[in-house]
Amino acid sequence: MRVAGLVVARILQAVREAAAPGVTTGELDQLARRMIAEAGAVSSFLDYVPYPGMPPFPAVTCISVNDEIVHGIPGGRELADGDLVSVDFGVSVNGWHGDSAITFGVGELAPERAALSEATRSAMWDGIAAAKVGARIGDISHAIETSVRTGKAGLGIVAEYTGHGIGRAMHQHPDVPNVGRPGRGDLLVKGMCLAVEPMVTLGSAATAVLEDDWTVVTRDGSAAAHWEHTVAILPDGLWVLTALDGGAGELAARGARYAPLGE
Ligand code: MF3
Ligand code: CO
Repeated sequence: MRVAGLVVARILQAVREAAAPGVTTGELDQLARRMIAEAGAVSSFLDYVPYPGMPPFPAVTCISVNDEIVHGIPGGRELADGDLVSVDFGVSVNGWHGDSAITFGVGELAPERAALSEATRSAMWDGIAAAKVGARIGDISHAIETSVRTGKAGLGIVAEYTGHGIGRAMHQHPDVPNVGRPGRGDLLVKGMCLAVEPMVTLGSAATAVLEDDWTVVTRDGSAAAHWEHTVAILPDGLWVLTALDGGAGELAARGARYAPLGE
């Protein structure tokens, strides 16, 4: 899963670097497609059907702009100065999956939007840092919720979508909610791998799904951010499989143990 995680991290970085005013979200998806092929990886998203009756997801990235929260479908939309862009991306290598999302601005970002993305990124790391053998899913959820609620006032935490277990499939048991109570939920055991992915809005957290059956937007039109990493819970600590540094820096800043199994 570290191999898949590094492929995901490098492609997300390339997509971020390619994003600029006038570039379309479809062009960013094409870049990711080429890089997946070069890496010998398989998209986790393309043709994904979450449940019967849903149209297969038609791209290898989810690109969600401004009031789009998650699951935006890349296409002809041209990015513009000031856009807040979330890119969610996953691949498998030899059948093992990695899943990660980043949020960034195009050109100059309004300070409020930059603060939203930073609050979401920080909440993701606070949630990850709460994971360890013997803790429970609710400890992660509570850490995310507390991180958002004690930060910048008035942000909304999207509750209808959650993180998830990950491994041989992109979505596995258990769900990892972004709000919850400490000490509740499934026990975290060694070897468990989770995708931790808060979605936070500048206004109300109420959501709607567009006619394409995929794109999730805020009902009030407020901007949203989404950050995600895949983390392995190991006997001696954590290994953030989709972070280039394995999470060493952000875990140390939070007093959490970094315990990679190798490179
Ligand atoms: N990667 C998303 C998640 O974090 C799921 C994307 S839906 C897909 O769970 F259809 F695009 F795969
Ligand atoms: Co995910």
